[in-house]
Amino acid sequence: MSNRRILVTSALPYANGPLHLGHIVEAIQTDIWVRFQKLRGNEAYYVCADDAHGTAIMLKAEQLGITAEEQIANIKADHEKCYQGFNIGFDNFHSTHSEENKVYSGLIYERLKANGHIASRNVTQAFDPEKNLFLADRYIKGTCPKCKSDDQYGDNCEKCGATYSPNELINPKSAISGATPIQKDSEHFFFKLPEFESFLKEWTRAGHLQDEVANKLAEWLDSGLKEWDISRDAPYFGFEIPGEPGKYFYVWLDAPIGYMASFKNLCDRTDGLEFDDFWNVNSSAELYHFIGKDIVNFHALFWPAMLSSAQFRTPTGVNVHGFLMVNGEKMSKSRGTFINAESYLEHLDADYLRYYFASKLSNSVDDIDLNFEDFIQKVNSDLVGKLVNLASRTAKFIEKSGGSLSATPENPELWQQFLEAQDVIASAFENREYAKATREIMALADAANEYLAAKAPWSLAKEEGKEQEVVAICSLGINMFRALMTFLKPVVPSLAERAETFLNETLNWSQPLAFVGGTQINGFKALLKRVEKTQIDAVMETNAKLSPTPVEQKNSEPTTTVDEQEPIAETINFDDFAKVDLRIALIKKAEHVKGANKLLQLTLDLGNETRNVFSGIKSAYAPEELEGKLTVMVANLAPRQMKFGVSEGMVLAAGPRGKKIYLLEPPSGAKPGQRVM
Ligand code: 2FM
Ligand code: ZN
Repeated sequence: MSNRRILVTSALPYANGPLHLGHIVEAIQTDIWVRFQKLRGNEAYYVCADDAHGTAIMLKAEQLGITAEEQIANIKADHEKCYQGFNIGFDNFHSTHSEENKVYSGLIYERLKANGHIASRNVTQAFDPEKNLFLADRYIKGTCPKCKSDDQYGDNCEKCGATYSPNELINPKSAISGATPIQKDSEHFFFKLPEFESFLKEWTRAGHLQDEVANKLAEWLDSGLKEWDISRDAPYFGFEIPGEPGKYFYVWLDAPIGYMASFKNLCDRTDGLEFDDFWNVNSSAELYHFIGKDIVNFHALFWPAMLSSAQFRTPTGVNVHGFLMVNGEKMSKSRGTFINAESYLEHLDADYLRYYFASKLSNSVDDIDLNFEDFIQKVNSDLVGKLVNLASRTAKFIEKSGGSLSATPENPELWQQFLEAQDVIASAFENREYAKATREIMALADAANEYLAAKAPWSLAKEEGKEQEVVAICSLGINMFRALMTFLKPVVPSLAERAETFLNETLNWSQPLAFVGGTQINGFKALLKRVEKTQIDAVMETNAKLSPTPVEQKNSEPTTTVDEQEPIAETINFDDFAKVDLRIALIKKAEHVKGANKLLQLTLDLGNETRNVFSGIKSAYAPEELEGKLTVMVANLAPRQMKFGVSEGMVLAAGPRGKKIYLLEPPSGAKPGQRVM
């Protein structure tokens, strides 16, 4: 087997919050690949780091009343512990706020500049005059120019979906200080990406990317590349640009350089490991970045262009995965499906999720779905029912007869199937087709279980003089278990470790698999427990207790899970209240709204007219139970443009926030259109 030298990275998580299961999918995907390479005898290194720079981290620290350095140190400790909990075997976990990264960022910038690839010009931008800070679009809020909804971000409206530039916002305010932003000029530095158009057209088609990714990039490349703004003004938490006081590298400039920095840090404390062997322009080592599909432009356009200008090698592969969905939907805080990684670890074994994700992952950019019923079913049926059972049902018969395995396979054809499958399984892992690998492995497990069921050593053992035969059958059983455990070792490292104690050896796949006979195994102890539904419930409960961070809230529907008692609102007088025209309404039609998680669309009969109303009662009612019911509506509410259409009024529903909601239901004799108030 050839001895490859391989450097692997996964995307650097931001140091402004805890890890969620989306981060963990990527880490697991990468870790399985690296463990597989090591198991095959290749020289592989897996490095990562925290992405520690940027305005968000600076503001987060300020909000917590600590320095940015303290903030990133706290988060780093938290991230490392969490990754460890999922058995992510980094060879190094560093930080982009490090000496190594400062050196390489400076060096790369100087080389780009020397090559004429840096431009500078003035940019006019929103500026917070109170905080003395330039404001990125997401830090400006105001009224949507289209639907007039308040409190919308500077680039798009969550209510009507309109996109615009922040100076179109009505009554814009800094989301940080509340001050009205002013427009201000400052000098910015740009990386001249358009000069790399032909290089990138070639590079993106040279086998470094999945076809679907290359196709997407071709669309951007064909519509023309723009110069990339790589500088930010002080105050900014990052590295000052050499020779440009008060100007800082934009976080995305030094983030990928963090891959180099982390590796350099590893080299500096590892004898014989040379940075240049992996990063020199003519390096023969392989370099792979595992990333999500949202950050492809940074890794497959800017990054190779920067590396090539700075005379470093470019990646062998940028391996892109899709997003994590939970129970078929985008992760969302308000639905409680934005699952914090620590919440999972508090109640469940990491190997369960590693196996489950492996069983779903392919080398495409398709999203992957975490479905809890499927999760329980797969883990219990595959890992416990098929795999661990092979050992638990056979071990005791070997133990009884002294613990030593028979020399040859009792059924050579069956064993041959295992030998023949190993290349297919290995190339599935190599190509990141883990779902295919686990399918092949479980097909072998099925064959092994069928064999044992047919031979029934547990029955034979009760007969006189069958001891040899029982040991022969069970020895094949143990060998099949050992083979499957070897194949799955990159996926379920903790389970594999316990199996190794039982098998009395360290499993390795650098040589083709062979039958082990005559060796001594240890007593069998339970290797893995079944997952219980109550554990999943406990994860969701722990998760629900965590408060949402503002960034995550931004992408979800309004959350109604406020537990504390809210203060009673300002008093209104009776005349104000009497302005509300409440009418009996008949629900003629109730329908689901495509893409909405909380809303139902209601067609209401008011006697003389019908109204279209969107109501957030989806969690409490199925549309069919509503049709034909009477309710009460605010009939004189001004029509409101919502994301899914115009709502002409409001039905009255009540219930504790975030809990079950009840629709007000007048007695059946009431007539549609009758005034209630
Ligand atoms: O999108 C993100 O979460 C970034 N922190 C990823 C950075 S990856 C690399 F370039 F550093
Ligand atoms: Zn709007």
